[in-house]
Amino acid sequence: LFGGPDGPLGRFYMGHVNGQIADIVFDDKQMHDAFDYYDDGAVVVADGKIAAIGDFAGLCNRGAVIDHRPHLILPGFIDPHIHFPQAEVIAAYATALLDWLSDHTFPAEARFADPDHGARIAGHFFDDLLRNGTTSVSAFCSSHPASVDAFFGAAEHRNMAVFGGKTMMDRNAPDPVLDNAQSAHDDSAALIARWHRRGRGRYVISPRFAITSTEAQLDAAGALARAHPDCLIQTHMSENRAEIALVAELFPDARDYLDVYERFGLISDRALLGHCIHLTEREQARMAETGAVAVHCPTSNLFLGSGLFDFFGLSAAGIRSAVATDIGGGTSYSMLKTLDEAYKIQQLRGQRLNPYLAFFWATLGNAEALQAADRIGTLAPGTDADLVVLNAAATPAMALRRDRIGSLAEELFLLQTLGDDRAVAEVYVAGVACKPGGA
Ligand code: GUN
Ligand code: ZN
Repeated sequence: LFGGPDGPLGRFYMGHVNGQIADIVFDDKQMHDAFDYYDDGAVVVADGKIAAIGDFAGLCNRGAVIDHRPHLILPGFIDPHIHFPQAEVIAAYATALLDWLSDHTFPAEARFADPDHGARIAGHFFDDLLRNGTTSVSAFCSSHPASVDAFFGAAEHRNMAVFGGKTMMDRNAPDPVLDNAQSAHDDSAALIARWHRRGRGRYVISPRFAITSTEAQLDAAGALARAHPDCLIQTHMSENRAEIALVAELFPDARDYLDVYERFGLISDRALLGHCIHLTEREQARMAETGAVAVHCPTSNLFLGSGLFDFFGLSAAGIRSAVATDIGGGTSYSMLKTLDEAYKIQQLRGQRLNPYLAFFWATLGNAEALQAADRIGTLAPGTDADLVVLNAAATPAMALRRDRIGSLAEELFLLQTLGDDRAVAEVYVAGVACKPGGA
């Protein structure tokens, strides 16, 4: 199978939306019907793309076979908010966001002025992503252009579909991580010319957040957004109460936090806004109108004590959302663990996240947020063959539980509750098996 040398075969599950997921249906049966599922299925891959999917019996003569039964095959996970230069920051003992940034994060990012450091960390970063079944990310690099070269260079070497950009930041941080409005604009423009749409890479315009950008720099980010209408924009918003208060001080004329970004032309359906925990009604209404995406980062929000994301409230208000790790505020590269924490946050809000919806979110949902569902996040024929193969009996505790479950929904829930990199049996990037240290 896989059109040539080899390819995966196994129980197959496809994150396929038919409208019901977008409307958020809570019933397991309806959720199940919203996806294509083959109990004994096959994925045929040719030239790095998915050529066909279906029952194994109908596809078994299409080439060499890799037998992944009884595992589940899904689209590779997508992590739409992660910080590449924070790989060494995970698990830093800190109080909350602003102290964590100044005490741990900015010093770590300063080291990325050195291209050798960037190249070395990029190796670890992408190995950890692949080990956890994540095949695409949208990453903040550091403010140093060399870190962007390290990020895209390492991704290109692995043929991964990645999104990312240079963090723009020209105030309220130590000198070694600061740029200025002009240099941030010019460096970003040069990096767009170098990396945007080169192979599978896409550049993302990345002002860090309102606190670390002057008006002149936000204006420069807006100019970049206008000049490059097919580049996404990523930043942070309304993560922490002290952060929101400081933004109000720094931008006394703005109606609210979102308005700071809106004034500079940064809010549209291309905007990925990390966190969005403490939104006002006006901000919610404008996000729904503009199509801006709220990117939920559950492990980070718990680790930094930021707050409990209102997934159901925002969905009811018509706001698009995505789900991400936010390494290194986040505490795991695993999208399974990320979904587990997302589930628990909704439990604390008195709501339950259906496992079908959770896995949709981490695959096709995140691909839609990145405006890339025509390439990734799905097993639709013609899209790129980025796949994850999941083993719901990967540990003794998982195996015990696995013997007692009887539905796909339960298997997914087991994977998200107990799974981590050990549950990733294999990962395929453009049709090539590449779990580090894997089979
Ligand atoms: N807000 C501004 N920068 C950051 C960052 O690096 N991590 C998180 N969690 N929030 C931020
Ligand atoms: Zn972040």
